[in-house]
Amino acid sequence: MDLFDFLLLFLLSFTGSCFAQSVLPPGPKDAAVGQNVTLNLLYVTKPDDITVWSYSNGATATNVATLRPTGVQVNAAYKGRASVNTTNGYLTLASLTAKDSGEYSVSIIGDGDTLTGEIKVRVLDPVSNVVIKSDLPEAIEQNSTVVLTCSASGSFLKFSWTNITSPIVADGTRLTFTDTDNSSKLTIKDVLRSDLMGPIFCKAENSLQSAQSPAFNLTVYYGPDNVFITPLKPTEYIESKTDFNLTCSTTSSPPATFTWFHNTTPIKATGPILTLKTIEEQGFGKRIGDYSCRAQNAKTSRMASSAAVRFTVMEPISGAKITYPSGVLIAGNSSANLSCQAMSGNVTEITWLKDDKPLVSGPLVVISSDKSSVFISLLKKEDNGLYTCRLRNAVSKKEDFYKMVVIYGPEPAKVEGDNQAQLDQRVVLTCAAASIPPANITWKLNGTVLNTKTNEFIIENALYKDSGTYTCEAYNAVTGRTTTYSHVLMVKEEIDNGLSDGAIAGIVIACLVALAASIALIFYCRQKVPVESPY
Ligand SMILES: *[C@@H]1O[C@H](CO)[C@@H](O)[C@H](O)[C@H]1NC(C)=O
Ligand SMILES: *[C@@H]1O[C@H](CO)[C@@H](O)[C@H](O)[C@H]1NC(C)=O
Ligand SMILES: *[C@@H]1O[C@H](CO)[C@@H](O)[C@H](O)[C@H]1NC(C)=O
Ligand SMILES: *[C@@H]1O[C@H](CO)[C@@H](O)[C@H](O)[C@H]1NC(C)=O
Ligand SMILES: *[C@@H]1O[C@H](CO)[C@@H](O)[C@H](O)[C@H]1NC(C)=O
Ligand SMILES: *[C@@H]1O[C@H](CO)[C@@H](O)[C@H](O)[C@H]1NC(C)=O
Ligand SMILES: *[C@@H]1O[C@H](CO)[C@@H](O)[C@H](O)[C@H]1NC(C)=O
Repeated sequence: MDLFDFLLLFLLSFTGSCFAQSVLPPGPKDAAVGQNVTLNLLYVTKPDDITVWSYSNGATATNVATLRPTGVQVNAAYKGRASVNTTNGYLTLASLTAKDSGEYSVSIIGDGDTLTGEIKVRVLDPVSNVVIKSDLPEAIEQNSTVVLTCSASGSFLKFSWTNITSPIVADGTRLTFTDTDNSSKLTIKDVLRSDLMGPIFCKAENSLQSAQSPAFNLTVYYGPDNVFITPLKPTEYIESKTDFNLTCSTTSSPPATFTWFHNTTPIKATGPILTLKTIEEQGFGKRIGDYSCRAQNAKTSRMASSAAVRFTVMEPISGAKITYPSGVLIAGNSSANLSCQAMSGNVTEITWLKDDKPLVSGPLVVISSDKSSVFISLLKKEDNGLYTCRLRNAVSKKEDFYKMVVIYGPEPAKVEGDNQAQLDQRVVLTCAAASIPPANITWKLNGTVLNTKTNEFIIENALYKDSGTYTCEAYNAVTGRTTTYSHVLMVKEEIDNGLSDGAIAGIVIACLVALAASIALIFYCRQKVPVESPY
C-alpha cells in the first residue's frame, strides 16, 4: 500500500462515517472456496469519482484496489485476483480462499462528498463428510437413551434430520437436538422401536450447498409383547396321534425363545410350535391340563407368558367288536348274550340298535347297566335281525354288526290258490310256512307224494285227473318239526255260466242232437248233389 492510499483511507475513516448512505447491499455475502465473488454497488458512480476498496480482517485494514478516472490500481497482494469494473466500480475477487473472509469496505470520493459502505464476505468451505454415528451399537426399547451425532465439514452449517422423508422434530421431552458448528446431536430418551425404523438421514447445509448423510439404521430391540397361543380355544378333547399342535406367537426383536408348560411343569420342547406328538411322548395330555407358553427375549432380558389353553388328549376307539353265541339259537329254547368291546380307546357311550332302531329292553331282553352286553333269556322268532353296537367317545365313533339267526318253525303251513279250475287252465298253488331255516316242502295228491319240492306247485294245463286233495308238508330239518295243509282242487269240464249241472247236461244233449242232425243233413246233400269228376 502506498502512502497516498493509506492517507486517503485514514482520512476517509473520519469523513465516511458522516454519510450513512447505503452504497453496498446488506451482507453477509457468501461464496465458496475457489470461486469468484463480485461486490456490487447500490450507487451509480460518476466517471470522475474515485472508488477505493479495502479489506479488514478485524485487526488490520488493507487496500485492495482503487478506481480512478485514470484507471484501476490493484494492490500487489491482490494482483491477478482482484479487478474493478471501470464502468460501475464493482469489485471482483477470484479464486477465493478462507483468508478472504472478512469486512470489505468501499469509499466513493466524489465532487465534495464521500460515500462509504461495508459488507461482510464469508468464504465457505464445501459441505462434505456428513455422517451419522450412534453412541450405542444397539438399543433396548424403553431402556436406552440413544444419542445420534451427525457431523460434517463445511462452514456455517445448519443440520436437519429426516426419518425416510419426514422431518424429525424435537418434542422437548423425549427427542432433543443439540447443535454445534459442525455437528448436531439427536438425543432420544427411552427409545421406541418406531423411532429409528428409518433409514434416518441427516442433512448439513449452508447458504451455498447441502449434503446428506448415508442412510442410517439403529437396531432397537423390543418385546416380547402380547404372547398368545393359537388355537385360542381348542376343543375340549383332542384326538390322540393327530397332527394337532399349538403355536405360540409374540412380537419380539430379536425373535423370542419359547418355553412350554403343562400346568406348571415345563415341557421339553423348543420353538414356537408344540406338537401333540411331543405332548404325548412326554406323557402329558391323558388328563385335562392347562398349556401355556413363555416367550423370552435374550437382548431385552424380558419375558412374558401367554394365557393358558385347556384340553384333554383322547384316544380314538378302534376295533369295535360284538361277541355273540357260538352255537345254534333255537326260539323258545336258547338264550343269547351279546357283548360289545373296543380293542382300544376310551368308550364313553354304547348304543345298541336292532334293525336300525334303538334296542328296547323288556322282560326277556336285559341290557346291562354299563350297556356293554345284552342278554336275551329266551329267544323268539322276532329276535331275528341285524344288531348294531355303536361305541362313541368325544373324538370317534365305531360300530360292529351281528346278524342274529334264531331257528324256529315251521309255523302252520298254508296253501293259497284256486279251488276250482277249467280244463287246460294254468293253476298255481303256493305253500307258505314261516321257518328258519326255510322249510323243506313236500307236495302230495290224494296222499301220493309228488315230485315238486318248491313252494309253488304249478299245473300248466289242468286235466280232470289233476283234481284231488293237495297236501303241502313243510319240514324244518333243524327243529325236526313238520306242519301240513290240505287244499282241494276241482278241474271242471265246461265254462261255468252260472247254470246248474242239470241245465248244463240238457244243453250238452241238445247240442249233440243238433250236431247229429247237421251231420245227417250234410251226408244227405252230398248224395243228392252230383260231384263233378276232375277227370
Ligand atoms: C462492467 O460493467 C458493465 C455495466 O454493468 C458491463 O456491461 C461490463 O461487461 C462490465 N465489464 C466487465 C469486464 O465485467
Ligand atoms: C473467476 O475469475 C477469473 C479471473 O478473473 C476468471 O478467469 C474465471 O472465469 C472466473 N470464474 C468464475 C466462475 O466466474
Ligand atoms: C435400514 O433399514 C431399512 C428398513 O429396515 C432397510 O431397508 C435399509 O436397507 C437399512 N439400511 C441400512 C444402512 O442398514
Ligand atoms: C432396563 O432398565 C432397568 C431399570 O432402569 C434395569 O434394571 C434393566 O437392567 C435394564 N434392562 C436392560 C436389558 O438393560
Ligand atoms: C331245548 O332245551 C332243552 C334243555 O333246556 C334241551 O334238552 C333240548 O335239547 C333243547 N331242544 C333243542 C331242539 O335244542
Ligand atoms: C354276557 O357276556 C359278557 C361278556 O362276556 C359278560 O360280562 C356278562 O356277564 C354276560 N352276561 C350274562 C347274563 O351272562
Ligand atoms: C282223488 O280223490 C278224489 C275224491 O276221492 C277223486 O275224485 C280223484 O279222482 C282222485 N284223484 C286222483 C288223481 O286219484
